[in-house]
Amino acid sequence: MKKHTTAPRHITMIGAGHVGLVTAACFAALGHNVICLDTDDERIKGLHRGEMPFYEPGMSELVLKGCASGHLTFTTSYEEAACEAEFVFIAVATPTTPVGLPDLRNVRAAGAAIVQALGSRRAIIISKSTGPVGISQALESLHETVSLPLVGNPEFLREGTAIKDFMEPDRVVLGSDDTEASRAVGSLYEPLGKPILYTDMKSAEMVKYACNAFLATKISFINEIAEICERVGADVRDVAKGMGLDFRIGRHFLNAGVGFGGSCLPKDVRALAYLAAVYGSHPQLLNAVLEINAEQRRRLVGRVRDALGGLRNKKVAILGLAFKPDTDDIRDAPALDLINLLEYEEAEIVACDPVAVDAARKVFPRLNCETDAYRAAEQADAVIIATEWDEFRNIDLPKLRSVMHTPLIADGRNILEPAVVRANGFVYLGVGLPDEDKLRTSVAI
Ligand code: UDX
Repeated sequence: MKKHTTAPRHITMIGAGHVGLVTAACFAALGHNVICLDTDDERIKGLHRGEMPFYEPGMSELVLKGCASGHLTFTTSYEEAACEAEFVFIAVATPTTPVGLPDLRNVRAAGAAIVQALGSRRAIIISKSTGPVGISQALESLHETVSLPLVGNPEFLREGTAIKDFMEPDRVVLGSDDTEASRAVGSLYEPLGKPILYTDMKSAEMVKYACNAFLATKISFINEIAEICERVGADVRDVAKGMGLDFRIGRHFLNAGVGFGGSCLPKDVRALAYLAAVYGSHPQLLNAVLEINAEQRRRLVGRVRDALGGLRNKKVAILGLAFKPDTDDIRDAPALDLINLLEYEEAEIVACDPVAVDAARKVFPRLNCETDAYRAAEQADAVIIATEWDEFRNIDLPKLRSVMHTPLIADGRNILEPAVVRANGFVYLGVGLPDEDKLRTSVAI
């Protein structure tokens, strides 16, 4: 971690969600004085007790260190948050509205409240919340009324590696019409020694959307290739490897599977597609990316149905609820779609996740959950792997086989070695892999 080399500044972070809390704790670690506000009283009380509102590796240690050094404090009071503010970051949630665009009410409310609390105090307002050429509009009225400088600073933090992503970013993007304000915000990031792109607000917002849309496109692309691989008998893992060795393409985000989830990729692609349509454009590629992603879930359930000769009253264990490992976040997780699809077909579902069970119970209060994979798989007719947790990657196959009713594994993340699984007496369904079980599936079950 690089040492902060410029004078400590007073930073206010509005929002103690994933982005807000990580950014606040990291700026505090760089030596700045950060006050982090959230209107959720329980969340702030929890943080005062050292309890994190979500799971992120390294987060707890960083927050506790920041609090102990006095560089990081928490509040629910806008007055307190405003009294020394030089930089105000707005990092509040922008959930998707039913039509597909982000709901900017939180952003507007946070902006209005901080401006009122600032009174005559000058501070730079920085938007970290995501919205396609919309966040700026949401805050523009404030900018016009009180003429505070406004800077867009999209975040590129991945859950699970958010601290590293902050401290070692590929780039920092800053968008504003106010060059001086942009440069001042840039000075906060300079100690990180990474490229800083200065642009206008709308372009900064589009960088974020274009990046997430591109990552999602890579995933849907490889998933489409995977389906072709299955049909022709090729192995998508080698195809991805071969593609990735071309440095123009790169190996990242070419893992075929049950598709992308999370709080960003699905929401951002939907929002961008919707926004494009609103502006009269026809976003064919973005729509296809979403359609392929939804199809990945349906296809996997369909293959299990075909293998079992129906799903009604069949017991299916879903291994993995989080949208990816090292997080308890289940927003838009593939597992949620799998549960809905299986419930519709009247399968009996048991779900299992090392950390995301509580989150899942909030969405599906009656969902049967286990934290132990073998208990979940007891008497199951099929196991579907939906998240690539290490404990599933290293699962004891003979033990799993001994507890299951029917030895069928649908590996939605391609984390198991097909030959090894089959050698242990399972029927194995991977994504984009030669389907050697196809002929003997109906015989084996
Ligand atoms: C993403 C972006 O990567 C980050 O830059 C942005 O700021 C926030 O959104 P995150 O949502 O944490 O980060 O998850 P990410 O690691 O990008 O994974 C998204 C989803 O894609 C996961 O469900 C993951 O399992 C899936 N995925 C990823 C694949 O299915 N295949 C891959 O090859 C890579």
